[in-house]
Amino acid sequence: MEKKRSSFTGRIGFVLAAAGSAVGLGNIWRFPYLAAKYGGGTFLIVYIILAVTFGFALMVTEIAIGRKTGLSVVGAYKKLDKRFSALGWLAAAVPIIIFPYYCVIGGWVTKYASMFMTNQMTTASQDGYFEGFISEMWEPLGWFFLFIALTALIVMLGVKGGIERASKILMPILVVMTIGICIFVICQPGALDGVLYYFTPTLDGLNVNMILAALGQLFYSMSLAMGIMITYGSYMKKDVDIEKSTKQIESFDIGIALLAGLMIVPSVFVFSGGDLSKLKAGPSLMFITLPQVFENMWAGQFIGALFFLLVLFAALTSSVSLMETIVSIITDKTKVNRRLVCLIVLVGALLIGVPSSLGFGVWGDFTIMGMSILDFFDFISNSVMMPIVALFTCLLVGYFVGTKVIGDEVRLSSKFKRQKMYNVVIKYIAPVFILAILISSVLNSLGIIKL
Ligand code: PHE
Repeated sequence: MEKKRSSFTGRIGFVLAAAGSAVGLGNIWRFPYLAAKYGGGTFLIVYIILAVTFGFALMVTEIAIGRKTGLSVVGAYKKLDKRFSALGWLAAAVPIIIFPYYCVIGGWVTKYASMFMTNQMTTASQDGYFEGFISEMWEPLGWFFLFIALTALIVMLGVKGGIERASKILMPILVVMTIGICIFVICQPGALDGVLYYFTPTLDGLNVNMILAALGQLFYSMSLAMGIMITYGSYMKKDVDIEKSTKQIESFDIGIALLAGLMIVPSVFVFSGGDLSKLKAGPSLMFITLPQVFENMWAGQFIGALFFLLVLFAALTSSVSLMETIVSIITDKTKVNRRLVCLIVLVGALLIGVPSSLGFGVWGDFTIMGMSILDFFDFISNSVMMPIVALFTCLLVGYFVGTKVIGDEVRLSSKFKRQKMYNVVIKYIAPVFILAILISSVLNSLGIIKL
């Protein structure tokens, strides 16, 4: 007898789980940096416009494909159109590449959360501490194992009992902590200038590069083009409103990104006396600059502990969605018991993650196209594979199966108020923009142009 597919209990469970996937390191360590780099308020406006048009259309597409086919990404594309089977595999490869290294970074976050919670802020904020830590061999590996084990535990407990339950606990806590830290930061002396800088639109940031950067950020941040939303959509009940759910997931993602900027930009502003060159993206912001900012802040130990805990929750719900996507592909294909599949994926990811972790230490001399192992994985998945998947998904829906198929699925549970806009975005606007991202990000990383 065919086993019934697991499902989320209802809209709230679905939205929180999907928002858990969307809200992650990208919101916290990349968005504030991009906003500061590209003229503050202008970037925010452009990002929001793109999110409610472009992000909305792609997310509705993925959720509807998942729910319609009731399959994870590999089977789903094949069921829609056999000629697009390879696209399913390409999309499946993205989480397989990202999951291991995302957990390596998750391990670093866990380490910093534990340091701030055990009174070791002064050590964490010392010059050179972070570089020393990641170049060691065993310690980062240990934290990586811990983080990935936590992820696997949640996924093993299943869609309702694991993923939905964890998201229902972690996401509300995350929102409350984010708002709390923001209020605290804004009340620091001198922070208001930073807030003004963050919100005031300036025209000098507005250019093509900025729009491309905002789009690239949008993909990653909304967990699009890697089968995640298809997988989660396949666990969605037929009576749950897709359009409304998408709007809510987007609001979560945009809201947390805006608030992350509101905690980070003003605090770096105060700490550096207005010099925002300190505000970088990625690991150096989170593990070098921010610990120093906390060190210089009143009650910094406490705020730092809250902050890293918040990042830990955000990263955990994202890595759960990555692992679930992989697990679901294998269970769809083989019908093997979920726990066993989780164990296999866990071991596989451990093996692939180890080189990423060691790439900062003993294997530091090994580079691919001039990038460390982790950076290379990041580049190939985000800048090359995801735009390709997104592009062909638009072509598949726009020109092969037809936007009506997606519209019909959405209409099973609600009106599709934005169907007209949806059609135009998927057929005409999105493909052109995505192609532009693909070309520019490849040229940028080959050093041919400078973004
Ligand atoms: N959306 C997550 C973020 O903003 C990142 C992520 C990417 C999560 C890929 C899962 C998969 O950080």
